[in-house]
Amino acid sequence: MSDSPKREHWGSKIGFILAAAGSAVGLGNMWKFPYLAGENGGAAFVLVYLGCIIILGLPIMIAEIVIGRHTEKDPVGAFKIIGTGPWTLVGYLGVASGFFIMTYYSVVGGWTIGYLVKSVSGALCSISGSADAEQLFESFIGSPSEMVFYHFLFIGATVFIVILGVAKGIERFSMVLMPLLFILLIILIIRGLTLPGALDGLRFYLRPDFSKITTKVVIEALGQCFFSLSLGMGAMITYGSYLNKKDKILNSSLKIVGLDTLAAFLAGMAIFPAVFAVGMTPKMGPGLTFNILPVVFSRMPYGAVFAAMFFLLLFIAALTSSMSLVQVVVAYFTDEKGFSRTKSVLTAGGLIFLLGIPAALSFGVMKDVKIFLGNTYFDFMDMLTSIYMLPIGGFLIAICLGFKYGLHNTMHELDPDTNSFYLKEIWAFTIKYISPVILLAIVLYFGVYKMIVG
Ligand code: PHE
Repeated sequence: MSDSPKREHWGSKIGFILAAAGSAVGLGNMWKFPYLAGENGGAAFVLVYLGCIIILGLPIMIAEIVIGRHTEKDPVGAFKIIGTGPWTLVGYLGVASGFFIMTYYSVVGGWTIGYLVKSVSGALCSISGSADAEQLFESFIGSPSEMVFYHFLFIGATVFIVILGVAKGIERFSMVLMPLLFILLIILIIRGLTLPGALDGLRFYLRPDFSKITTKVVIEALGQCFFSLSLGMGAMITYGSYLNKKDKILNSSLKIVGLDTLAAFLAGMAIFPAVFAVGMTPKMGPGLTFNILPVVFSRMPYGAVFAAMFFLLLFIAALTSSMSLVQVVVAYFTDEKGFSRTKSVLTAGGLIFLLGIPAALSFGVMKDVKIFLGNTYFDFMDMLTSIYMLPIGGFLIAICLGFKYGLHNTMHELDPDTNSFYLKEIWAFTIKYISPVILLAIVLYFGVYKMIVG
């Protein structure tokens, strides 16, 4: 109810920035960005990525926060105001994306807790080599009881924080967890860089090679920046809906985007020097994190301590992201259905837990159950959300704001930010003409071309 004076607000500007950066900094930063950079031109890729952030990430980030603060609603409520009619479906698409992403995200979140436990118990550092590490991981993710248990634990941790409220839960925890995340990253970087042979890792990660920058690499960077910034599903609409009217959106967006990019960049600095120092070769994604890094830690002095720090870091990154995913669903229940906060959080948490069970079992008892094009439930949810739902959501957000509602209706949200007519005009032009084209290209490339050609 926009006429209700009671909408909760963030306690402080920095609280909002850290919560939103917490949403953005997640598993995407820790296990995808570093590898994409290392494989695709190092420093040259980092430059391309910065370009993607500026032309795609930042404008959509601003647009989502503007929509949120303007309407003071969850994504469905927001689109009832700025879109009306069938446009409301864009809001539902966002809430559904929150649900679907959570079903597999919380499974991986559970893995981080499991590996944190294994680091502390010493089980992780007693492995003898990569075959051993692989076997440990396979038997871990193949165990239905452990998977469901950790999936439950991770959702439980998220629910515990979100139930406390936006300012008292999400904000308060982000104010502690985000600085801790950066401290852990810096300790791990220092550890990695001081190992003999670390420079080879830096060379792999950062050696600039512009010949690797192809159209394909640029589109991958665009897709990665979109997922990494939590865009396209209304997470930033929801967080923006609790933003004080006096806070500056452009300035805050720059900080959120900056922190996300910094965290992604630092993750590579923490990982590759250590991987190369112990003579391993990096892999992408879960393979790197759960198969290679345990070997690295087991060969490093005080490895168990650094392993525990690393998996704590991953857990924090995943947790602050999942808080935002759950909050989108919770905001929908409170704003649209009139549920109390507790009822909304418990309903959302319960549904996500149930919908996530097949994802938790996707590497064990359900590994032969293929949903679509040979994908397990886990892979299907990942594919459905990251290559279809988020870019399509982003496309529709830009079109709806640019053409249906009209940017002039929301320009005053940017007023205190900037008096520069040109800056606003550039943003408006980007939202109307550039962002939709880029997002369509992402869907066509990942969702159509790559599906067919492979
Ligand atoms: N940005 C998160 C990451 O990098 C993922 C995410 C996507 C979180 C969409 C919320 C919404 O891992």
